Amino acid sequence: MSRPIQIAPSVLPADFSRLGDEVAALEAAGVDLIQWDVMDGQFVPNLTFGPDVIASARRHTSVPFEAHLMVYTPDVMAAQYVEAGCSRLIVHAEACTHLHRTLGNINDLGANAAVALNPATPASAISHVLDLVDLVLVMTVNPGFGGQAFIPGALRKIEALRRRIDDSGRSIDLEVDGGINRDTARQAIAAGADVLVAGTATFKGGPSAYAENIGALRGGS
Ligand code: DX5
Repeated sequence: MSRPIQIAPSVLPADFSRLGDEVAALEAAGVDLIQWDVMDGQFVPNLTFGPDVIASARRHTSVPFEAHLMVYTPDVMAAQYVEAGCSRLIVHAEACTHLHRTLGNINDLGANAAVALNPATPASAISHVLDLVDLVLVMTVNPGFGGQAFIPGALRKIEALRRRIDDSGRSIDLEVDGGINRDTARQAIAAGADVLVAGTATFKGGPSAYAENIGALRGGS
């Protein structure tokens, strides 16, 4: 069953001094949702933004927001990211001692829950939480920074997860994130991905190039 391909730019490369204009430009370029890379400087060696920054951008676009919580304590601030306007929260399986409880808590907040897997984490890590998520994120780089090279070995995990999701009979999106460009997008889609997160490939060339860049990523399908 072919699923529509969704494009979710990562805002990490955006001009943070013009964040409202940037998200408006992304909407005009035809993105399906926007991913906010939340980093705590502990789970990953980088520090980005909190819910207030996301909330400041919320009124500038109607595009859905998802927060990719690359943090050790997603439960502590989950409610604030929902209040900031994120309709999906993505937590890392590696950061959650009680992943099942954390995902259930996100659902109880009225948001969609999703789980992310770092490159070394096997697909089996999500075996017992598929009933709690609407998306699984396969990291195709080690998280923390944009502009890294796609890890080809992740393709086998994408294929394995596509089989698990299809066998579950549940409507769950399979998202990839890291080093996604036209070429790797084509490979990831062929392996079973249907949501593409791209930072560098989205923002290269500036706002006048966003629509062309998004079209090139979609063209990977
Ligand atoms: C990496 C982030 C990714 C990154 C993607 O830790 O989670 O979303 O910003 O950037 P590119 O597309 O440049 O690899």
